[in-house]
Amino acid sequence: MVESKTNDLMERIVSLCKRRGFVFQSSEIYGGINGFWDYGPLGAELKRNVKDCWWRVMTQRRDDVVGLEATIIMHPKIWEASGHTTTFADPMVDCLLTKKRFRADQVDPSSGIAYHYSGAEDATDSAKTSREPYSVLLPPGKNPESARKTAKQFYALRGITDGRLLGERTEKVENSTRYNPENGSLLTEPRMFNLMFKTCVGPVESAENIAYLRPETAQAIFAQFKTVAEVSRQKVPFGICQIGKAFRNEINPRNFTFRSREFEQMELEFFIRPDEAVEAICGSVAQPAGPGHPGQPQANWGWQMWHKYWVEERLAFYESIGLPRTTLVEYWQKPEELAHYARATVDILYKFPFSKKNAAGELAGEELEGVAARSDFDLSQHQRYSGKAMGVFDEELKTAWAKLDASKKETLTQRYFESRRNYLVKTNVDQAKAEAQAREEAAGLARGSYVPHVIEPSAGVDRLALALICNAYCEDTAPDEKGKMETRLVMRFHPRIAPTKVAVFPLLKNKPELVKKAQEVRDLLREHMTVFYDEAGAIGRRYRRQDEAGTPFGVTIDFDTLGEQGAELKDTVTLRERDSMKQTRVKIADLPALLLGKIR
Ligand code: GAP
Repeated sequence: MVESKTNDLMERIVSLCKRRGFVFQSSEIYGGINGFWDYGPLGAELKRNVKDCWWRVMTQRRDDVVGLEATIIMHPKIWEASGHTTTFADPMVDCLLTKKRFRADQVDPSSGIAYHYSGAEDATDSAKTSREPYSVLLPPGKNPESARKTAKQFYALRGITDGRLLGERTEKVENSTRYNPENGSLLTEPRMFNLMFKTCVGPVESAENIAYLRPETAQAIFAQFKTVAEVSRQKVPFGICQIGKAFRNEINPRNFTFRSREFEQMELEFFIRPDEAVEAICGSVAQPAGPGHPGQPQANWGWQMWHKYWVEERLAFYESIGLPRTTLVEYWQKPEELAHYARATVDILYKFPFSKKNAAGELAGEELEGVAARSDFDLSQHQRYSGKAMGVFDEELKTAWAKLDASKKETLTQRYFESRRNYLVKTNVDQAKAEAQAREEAAGLARGSYVPHVIEPSAGVDRLALALICNAYCEDTAPDEKGKMETRLVMRFHPRIAPTKVAVFPLLKNKPELVKKAQEVRDLLREHMTVFYDEAGAIGRRYRRQDEAGTPFGVTIDFDTLGEQGAELKDTVTLRERDSMKQTRVKIADLPALLLGKIR
């Protein structure tokens, strides 16, 4: 990444994305639609590569994770069980003058002199009055007339066109988020706004037909947990993963694709034994021993080891597709930031050019992914709302339990009872009922039964694609056709995720033998990877176009390839490496294996 990651840099990145067809506004010919983005040819390949890499690593290369592809619209009860219908909301405020909407917690604080008014009356028509209070915040030293002008505009919207302001008084204000930072107008009181998009299922638009576009892919995994476990014959610990669209009616979509209203998620729900079961089976529960990857999963891992494991796995994934560790931040949420059911959450942040700076002046980073230890909350909620048992039978636990001494049984039963009772009480079950139900569930341990806990690594495809684009963007210098140094714009994507893997060029397009050979090479490579064939323009310019597209390798077919400079060079090509611009001579027959070794 180039050194100066500024907002100016972000503008250049956005402009490149549009010019080269990575990302552009949805419905652009109609003026666009806020919070929705389309991916052009290069962006679509990039996104596909990101998802393929994730899928390969998270399920295809593992025995303990299986995939799911569920519908976007699901039974509305799912969102009641998950809490989304009641709590998936952001505080929203509107500018009283322009009606512009803000997320209350994202309004920049402002200071100055607040001009308060108790109302206004019309100078020419005394019947027209307003008693609605209104305020304007002016930066220190600004002419009071500007506040009066704004206030008159506000009352004009209420029909008082020739307004005389009433009850003006002033007040010094520090760091207030009650005013629109753009024009100083007072904002409305915050109101909660549910972020789920509503729709109706079937031809009748009525309350009982309301359904939601899913705001996350995770809930389908919980709802299908039992079925997937059964059909895949998986035993806890194991995971179910899914990639798919999610929709959130964000109040303020912003920072290009970073906060969109339609986006894709890649989520894993990894189901584990409760610690009490692990202790019953293994005698003790392993604890994380310092920083770093804890290694291969072990039977004595409880939620802390599994959580640490997934944080480290996910960090390694980001590094494997080209995001250096120095661009990532591992942020452990503070206890007061955790959702009530979460035991720990680590946000993996990427230092985007638009990220705020911390006290040390470094980019603080913005969330790419959250890795949450969500206890047994989700499955318990679905068990409760659907009335279907979400517990599993664990043969090993049943066998181990029978061999425990009485005091161990009592300790583990008591601990499990407390955790279940706490969950029930937190979710508003009456204390006496909670105690009775928790007691019954704790007795289930002896029969090898429990509701699994879950570790959830949840990532956004679009945010990751944007991070990869920002990270790849680089301006360096390279010689032009005549050897003069010029600025080169190059997207240094890791070959694993680069949209096009190799470009194939005949040196000259008016030499049929060169073109024929180049097309043969193209067809040979196309079986294995994405290839771009280009015969238009000077070879230097063709290289530059591919540098901008982030194509890591270029293959040129020249007269040596045809054997015109000697038999030893026949059927060899020039292989150019994008970043170093180094060129080597390679046999055509060796190309597929050589390139595959670099892009896998
Ligand atoms: N199931 C947990 C869950 O959905 P989240 O933190 O709300 O957690 C997970 O979302 C990830 O989804 C985020 O880390 C982010 O990468 C992505 N994401 C969330 N809201 C988004 C938005 N409005 N636009 C783009 N990506 C978003």
